[in-house]
Amino acid sequence: MNNTPVLKVQDIHKSFGNVEVLRGVSFEVEKGETKVFIGPSGTGKSTLLKCINQLTIPDRGNVWLNGREIVHSHVKINLYRQQMGMVFQNFFLFDHLTAVRNVEISLIKVKRMNRKEAREKAMEELSRVGMADKANSYPAELSGGQAQRLSIARALAMDPEVMLFDEPTSSLDPELTGEVLDVMRKLARGGMTMVVVTHEMGFARWAANEIFFMDEGVILESGPPAEMFTRPRFERTRRFISRMTELYAEEQSDG
Ligand SMILES: Nc1ncnc2c1ncn2[C@@H]1O[C@H](COP(=O)(O)OP(=O)(O)OP(=O)(O)O)[C@@H](O)[C@H]1O
Ligand SMILES: [Mg+2]
Repeated sequence: MNNTPVLKVQDIHKSFGNVEVLRGVSFEVEKGETKVFIGPSGTGKSTLLKCINQLTIPDRGNVWLNGREIVHSHVKINLYRQQMGMVFQNFFLFDHLTAVRNVEISLIKVKRMNRKEAREKAMEELSRVGMADKANSYPAELSGGQAQRLSIARALAMDPEVMLFDEPTSSLDPELTGEVLDVMRKLARGGMTMVVVTHEMGFARWAANEIFFMDEGVILESGPPAEMFTRPRFERTRRFISRMTELYAEEQSDG
């Protein structure tokens, strides 16, 4: 069972009305790998992540988590979702709860930890993202970068098998983007299994074991960063990467 991928996605199709948004997407993620999805707006990247954690049910295709089939199976969906940490562009924090309460709430309600254990674990996760000193702040009192780091801590607290990130920095100013990417780099280095949708080419180049270029509902091409950045097969890929590299030059310079 050693070479069972943590995540296997096979031939995912999804239409909304008569628009086919995903037209057969397949990929795998091994333990400890970071796979990065890039591509123009509207090409189905978010829909793909939602199909993976079953926020959206694909029309066709399947997903396996550690070899266990998910779509159309009898796996309890909540049990499955717990094993996938999801971080969105907008943080989806509980505004009426402090940072530490945001993290510990699902430890208490879902993992059934007692308050003391949950508090300890929550503080550990906050430290991991550099937010221990903000434990008693409410989301409204946090910067965008801090709020996003908090939402990462909340996802990590569930000890997920894989972390899914959907443009986690695209609502942040450049200076706040850096602190979130630093946390993600640290996770990647620490062996976390990750699927990341991002426009941050510096991060993609540094962190990705493999980059997937999505175009019109399919993976047009994929490869390790060295290949995708220097000799992509398609002109569309080359143009996209060079445009994004210019747009996000900030991150390139310290990435
Ligand atoms: N729930 C929905 N109902 C109808 N259409 C949808 C729904 N969700 C997504 N779409 C459509 O599917 C297409 C792909 O959307 P998706 O959000 O997956 O793209 P994306 O690659 O994540 O784009 P972006 O880079 O802008 O985030 C878009 O045309 C979008 O309008
Ligand atoms: Mg999207």
